Amino acid sequence: MSKSDFGDVLAKIPYGVSVVTTGRGGAQVENGLTVSWLCQVAFEPPMLMIAVDKLHYSVDLLRSTKNFCVNLLGEDQAALAGRFAKQATTADDKLADVPQRPADSGAAILTDAVAYFDCEVAQLVEAGDHLLVLGRVEDAAVLRDRAPLTSASGLRYRKR
Ligand SMILES: Cc1cc2nc3c(=O)[nH]c(=O)nc-3n(C[C@H](O)[C@H](O)[C@H](O)COP(=O)(O)O)c2cc1C
Repeated sequence: MSKSDFGDVLAKIPYGVSVVTTGRGGAQVENGLTVSWLCQVAFEPPMLMIAVDKLHYSVDLLRSTKNFCVNLLGEDQAALAGRFAKQATTADDKLADVPQRPADSGAAILTDAVAYFDCEVAQLVEAGDHLLVLGRVEDAAVLRDRAPLTSASGLRYRKR
């Protein structure tokens, strides 16, 4: 099986699209990235998990500040997903000008998102080229009544 074959089969799995914010505030110590590899893993305690490429800038923040906030995007927010799918650079603060407020953990809640889950990192698991980040959900809420942004929109997570 080739890598592109695997990617084509993965593309058949339907998923939602979120922006995961990291850090506890401050321009140099916060970031956000578009994530679709997200799933719920426990009711008690409430937990979910994201898979993040170990080469992404955000991984260092997840390992050090140990918190993150999952912001589920609405079907009208494909442009925002595109913005956060670009690699962070020192010249470009992806979170600048995006309506937000700090979650209890300090990560940004994108206030135009459909819903959010504010998490403290409970466990990190190495999985090939990705890091599985299990988060204990400390707070969650629905922010607006809008259908979620999904892979049906054509958005796709591809290996660079
Ligand atoms: C629809 C879509 C879904 C994505 N899902 C993930 C994901 O689940 N995990 C991941 O590591 N990267 C994912 N990415 C890629 C990251 O968003 C992208 O590489 C980003 O630049 C990483 O940001 P950073 O380098 O500033 O941390 C996705 C991209 C798109 C367009």
